[in-house]
Amino acid sequence: MKIFNSIQEFNKVKDDLGKLSFIPTMGNLHRGHTSLVDIAKQFNNKIIASIYVNKLQFNDNNDYLRYPKTLDADIKLLEKHGCDYVLIPDDSILENIQTIKAPLKSQKLCGKNRPGHFDGVLTILNEFFRIIGPDIVVFGKKDYQQFILVRDFINDNNLNIKIIGGNTIRESSGLALSSRNNLLSDQEKVIAAKLYEALNDIESQKSNLDLNFVNSKKDYLESFGINIDYLISCDPESFQESYDIKNKDLLIAIAAYVGKVRLIDNLKLTKL
Ligand code: PAF
Repeated sequence: MKIFNSIQEFNKVKDDLGKLSFIPTMGNLHRGHTSLVDIAKQFNNKIIASIYVNKLQFNDNNDYLRYPKTLDADIKLLEKHGCDYVLIPDDSILENIQTIKAPLKSQKLCGKNRPGHFDGVLTILNEFFRIIGPDIVVFGKKDYQQFILVRDFINDNNLNIKIIGGNTIRESSGLALSSRNNLLSDQEKVIAAKLYEALNDIESQKSNLDLNFVNSKKDYLESFGINIDYLISCDPESFQESYDIKNKDLLIAIAAYVGKVRLIDNLKLTKL
């Protein structure tokens, strides 16, 4: 696996690399990320990952500073999984960067209490897309809202990129894999698994779906000391609150703090 430690290094050979499938990451890689590499392997392209903790998408500086960094292990894992290239830029990538304003629906769910978060995500991705010029990009659907916003960004700007979404990979407890799980104690991990349990409870009783039912699941989670940012039943495209499961598929999405750690998860409900 070839490692590019700067954009300049990458640019020198870019034209010789052929068609690329790109997996952007912030490092601290786990099976969720390697499952995206596995998806990318189904195509004939070379695979390039990036590792960059993007300051622009954190609105809490402590969260940014605490973000786990495990570069050596990340490189080994990517190599073992058959990634061909990894780009590890430094903060000079932010110099003269074109700022992207995310559309209004970015202000729902994860954007509501994290203003500017998706502007930061789209800004860095636009820059990576410009530098790398990928043919395919692969994103995890745990970050469902991010997946939709990036898909729309690619379509709206007529970028010639195919986007593929990878399913969420889970611990046996149901806890969605996340780099932030490394910040949880063993006891907090047990509590964090309740998030997926609540999503599943909602799915198994989807014929009773309404605000009261969703709120009862909030209360249940709060009884374990979980601090809910949002738990919502919504339209999977607009993220507008909706309970209309008779007529359309819905997204149940959650963001919650277990201790100091913010976790997200979601489940798609198919219409009745
Ligand atoms: O999902 C992530 O890890 C980040 O939001 C991404 C896509 C790498 C952009 O910084």
